Amino acid sequence: MKTILVTGGTGYIGSHTVVSLLENNYKVVILDNLCNSKISTLARIEKISSKTPDFYQGDIRDATLLASIFKNHPISGVIHFAGLKAVGESQKEPLKYYENNVTGSITLLNEMFKANVKTFVFSSSATVYGEPGSTQYEEGMSTIPINVYGRTKFMIEEVLRDCAQANPDFSVACLRYFNPVGAHQSGLIGENPVGTPNNLMPYVGQIAMGKLPMLKVFGNDYPTPDGTGLRDYIHVDDLAKGHVLALSYLEKNSGALTVNLGTGKPYSVLEMIAAFEKVSGKNIPYEFVDRRSGDLAEYYANPSLAKKLLYWQAEHGIERMCEDTWRFYQQVELSHS
Ligand code: NAD
Ligand code: UFG
Repeated sequence: MKTILVTGGTGYIGSHTVVSLLENNYKVVILDNLCNSKISTLARIEKISSKTPDFYQGDIRDATLLASIFKNHPISGVIHFAGLKAVGESQKEPLKYYENNVTGSITLLNEMFKANVKTFVFSSSATVYGEPGSTQYEEGMSTIPINVYGRTKFMIEEVLRDCAQANPDFSVACLRYFNPVGAHQSGLIGENPVGTPNNLMPYVGQIAMGKLPMLKVFGNDYPTPDGTGLRDYIHVDDLAKGHVLALSYLEKNSGALTVNLGTGKPYSVLEMIAAFEKVSGKNIPYEFVDRRSGDLAEYYANPSLAKKLLYWQAEHGIERMCEDTWRFYQQVELSHS
């Protein structure tokens, strides 16, 4: 049985991926400093999978801790989710983001190489594309990220490609996620940000729970069919499966793979609101306000490379994304810990 180190494994995408790994008979060691997740997620992972991952509360920038984790576990690969992800905050506190995301990743890579571990899956983002002149993003397109967060992701990708160039037996996958939404079908794990959410679906979920009064829809004057922004929303369980398939791919192939994980089908803000209202039976009041700075009108994935190389494609549509989000919000409210 292979053992995978999952950094950021108690976070939103990490926890779903840990469940998927455990279901696929991997052993899992989680390293998370809990700066944006709760220790109670571990018990929820155990409840879903009836398996217990090893857990270390600590920081990816702590080389001594990393060395001891690699020494004490027969780790064959790393899936690296740990990172800060708030675009607005990254613009205000760039050094915090470069330090945590870029320095943290380099510290992790150093310790990993010292332990002779050569398989790495990285959480990248569609945000690395910036504005390439086309709305359907393909992996070969230009990458000019337009915010600090996106630049940290792009820098790490470049570091990883350089490492692959220098080490022929290093296998790395940079997975560029589009807009992760939804929750595990059990309702036990999902995205529950601290404070007021920045992203659309957690905001909508909190309105449905009566915690927030009204959604501000950022712009209804985009050149899109209903004037609101179009995004490629992807169910977090589909994303999680993509990581397991990426690991299988890396077990057979060395070098650097960069691949989109999206559905290829964009939906507008108003379509997402309508889908959520339908499955929850709740009214989501909204008002149109000015565009949010830094937002693009429309982008979505060309997911064909992931299909070809990883044998991966998204299975869940927006109805399921909304159903699972809603189930999670209701459940969190009942058993918040
Ligand atoms: P999340 O905040 O829920 O999970 C990240 C986890 O990493 C958290 O549990 C946090 O406590 C931990 N962490 C952060 N810095 C750490 C550090 N220095 N040491 C140890 N642990 C640390 O975020 P998520 O949505 O699950 O995202 C996971 C990864 O995917 C991130 O790298 C993010 O940038 C990337 N990503 C997310 C999205 C998205 O919209 N959610 C889109 C594209 C890429
Ligand atoms: N939106 C609103 N009101 C809100 C929140 C969002 O109208 O309160 C709109 C946005 O303008 C956009 C859409 O809903 O049109 C989606 O916005 P999100 O904030 O949910 O997601 P983004 O597309 O802005 O960005 C997300 C992550 C980034 C990641 C990117 C990857 O936040 O970290 O997807 O594509 F890089």
